[in-house]
Amino acid sequence: MSASATEMLDKRQAIARRVQALLDSMTLVEKIGQMSQVEAGHGYAPDILGNRLRAGLVGSVINVVDVEVLNELQRIAMKESRLGIPLLIGRDVIHGFKTVLPIPLGQAATWNPDLVEQGARVAAREAAKSGVNWTFAPMIDISRDARWGRIAESYGECVLLTSELGAATVRGFQGHDLAESGSIAACAKHFAGYGAVESGRDYATTNIPDTKLRNVYFRPFHAAVDAGVSTFMTSFSDLNGIPATGNSYILDDVLRGEWAFEGFVVSDWDSVRQLSIHGLTENDRESAIEACNAGVDMEMAGDAYSNHLLGLVEDGEVSEESIDIAVSRILRVKFELGLFDNPYTDPGAFPEYANEAALEVAREAAEQSVVLLKNDHGALPLAATELASVAIVGPLADAGYEQLGTWIFDGDEKLSVTPLAAIQTLVGDEVKLRYVRAMENSRSRVNPEFDAAVDAARASDAVLLFLGEESILSGEAHSRADIGLPGDQVELVRRIRATGKPVIAVILAGRPLTLSDIVDEVDSILYAWHPGTMGGPAIADLVFGHAVPSGKLPATFPRVVGQIPIYYSQKNGGKPPTKDNVVHIDEIDTFAPQTSLGMSAFHLDTCFTPLFPFGHGLSYTWFGYENIRVSADEIALGETVTVSVDICNHGDIEAEEVVQLYTRDLVASLTRPVKELKGFRRIRLAARETRTISFEIHTDDLAFYGRQGHRVVEPGLFHAWVGGSSDAEQRTEFRIAQPN
Ligand code: NOJ
Repeated sequence: MSASATEMLDKRQAIARRVQALLDSMTLVEKIGQMSQVEAGHGYAPDILGNRLRAGLVGSVINVVDVEVLNELQRIAMKESRLGIPLLIGRDVIHGFKTVLPIPLGQAATWNPDLVEQGARVAAREAAKSGVNWTFAPMIDISRDARWGRIAESYGECVLLTSELGAATVRGFQGHDLAESGSIAACAKHFAGYGAVESGRDYATTNIPDTKLRNVYFRPFHAAVDAGVSTFMTSFSDLNGIPATGNSYILDDVLRGEWAFEGFVVSDWDSVRQLSIHGLTENDRESAIEACNAGVDMEMAGDAYSNHLLGLVEDGEVSEESIDIAVSRILRVKFELGLFDNPYTDPGAFPEYANEAALEVAREAAEQSVVLLKNDHGALPLAATELASVAIVGPLADAGYEQLGTWIFDGDEKLSVTPLAAIQTLVGDEVKLRYVRAMENSRSRVNPEFDAAVDAARASDAVLLFLGEESILSGEAHSRADIGLPGDQVELVRRIRATGKPVIAVILAGRPLTLSDIVDEVDSILYAWHPGTMGGPAIADLVFGHAVPSGKLPATFPRVVGQIPIYYSQKNGGKPPTKDNVVHIDEIDTFAPQTSLGMSAFHLDTCFTPLFPFGHGLSYTWFGYENIRVSADEIALGETVTVSVDICNHGDIEAEEVVQLYTRDLVASLTRPVKELKGFRRIRLAARETRTISFEIHTDDLAFYGRQGHRVVEPGLFHAWVGGSSDAEQRTEFRIAQPN
């Protein structure tokens, strides 16, 4: 064992001893106190809460970020309660604290785990400076329905991308050591299946077969356990008839049993008591039984545990042993965070909020998150030297709050640099800017400024149209049934288009929007998500060619909402659509009887392909992929094959590209997706440079959970593609040999 592994083991054993000693001295009431998290905002703390802390009735508080109040709460817990147990201070630090990074879906578009890790580190330091020691992130629910408002908080639709970015986020929040200054405990949420809620309605039901849970929804969570995440949060949703908060299969059998997770599980907000609203239990008492016995260690912002656990242990419905296990998990995290040694926060010991380095990470993340969806005739980048004037139009060009996106409790709107402000700074007096907001907000239907916007466009050499959604249109409980551009934005685009000027759409949104109405009405589209504090400078640099777009879509863009769910790793089905076997509604002969039109899986009234595929994203240069090859046509189980490709930057500017590797298992005992991402790498290529990029695939990477629910690797033929999107054309193949 290496020195550091030995040190780690010693430390764990020491913590285990301290936990046990403490547990031995606790009363049952004090133990149950540790299992309760209390909402402490709204002036409740410290005064009213104080007595509960003194009595040892609270293990954690949520939603206080005033460092003086928090230090006082810790002091009461440490000095005035019988056992002096410090508090976990929870807060939703989702994509930044004061410095706001792009929404997680935007960060996913960077395909850059290192940058995502740095972003989480910035957020952790700023949160820790305020006394927070536990965040409820990363959200690693696979999200394949853009109607769901919480897709904004996710890393998108792909198992591998979500797993890698989720693990990076855990590393960023927790650092090398939870006890080091600036580290906070992370929370993998929402376990499990939340992203599959029916019709994208938040909190709705999910029905997910076990093989799909294991092959898709569970995998990022397993990766988070491997990354050392300290805590898990249950989902609000019903999973196959058993709401996640009362689901012992996922919490006990899988998470603890199979994955050996040693941290603790918190419920979602009041989701223990909601078990009776689901119809699983009759009252709070029964809800406490179900949740506790299923393996929920701490109740968030509810009182089912504090009101009922004591009686339940006395009545023998819940064993004291299970309480002890839950409490020791919670105490272990408190020890690991070093809170028993020092629970207090000295804000002066931390760098300033939103310091230069933090803002630079936010700017870099925003820049890499922007996806160039289309760019006809090289309309972008704009050349400041060749333009006399530019019209800047739209409700999101200068909306500092809206660009921050959902879940920004502590984000400081005053720090936002808007696109308008950044463009003004960038072009100075060189280019005349004509700004017309045109709509009061993204949903406006009465728009007296449209004429002024058209006049500005007519008078200018090019138009930058800032469209999309305000932040309130995505996030928790903010799902939409229609995910087109809201309000009269499509009308605005048409009127601007009619001026004949080059039109560049910059879209700020919390989800993939359906853009079919405008895609042909504009020359270029930069999809900027909600890019955060530094969205403006990032967008300005990209628009004027000081930076080159390199973001790639982490989610498929449907043409119309009726295509949902649409995602790249779908199954082939028995009648897959191709361009030769589909029919369009206009082609149907009204008098023809019902026939097997087209004989394939398509909609009559739209294409079977998405508007933009997963992984798509253009550049100002052009990358060519050639000469894909494998190191061996056949490998044995346990071996590795190398897939290589030559990538050439055909343009005359240096730029970054995200190279993506996909595979398909052609024949399996359980049908497999038509493509699965198996690797990706962000590379920088000089102008005209060609480079060979290789990916190694071990046969374990091709494993899946089969019919019996076990992980299997099945011999046979595999296809492999490497390219710049999930539509990659360079394909090769290899076999896994049948064992002798
Ligand atoms: C409910 C949300 O579902 C969860 O993600 C969040 O962390 C908690 N509320 C706490 O605010």
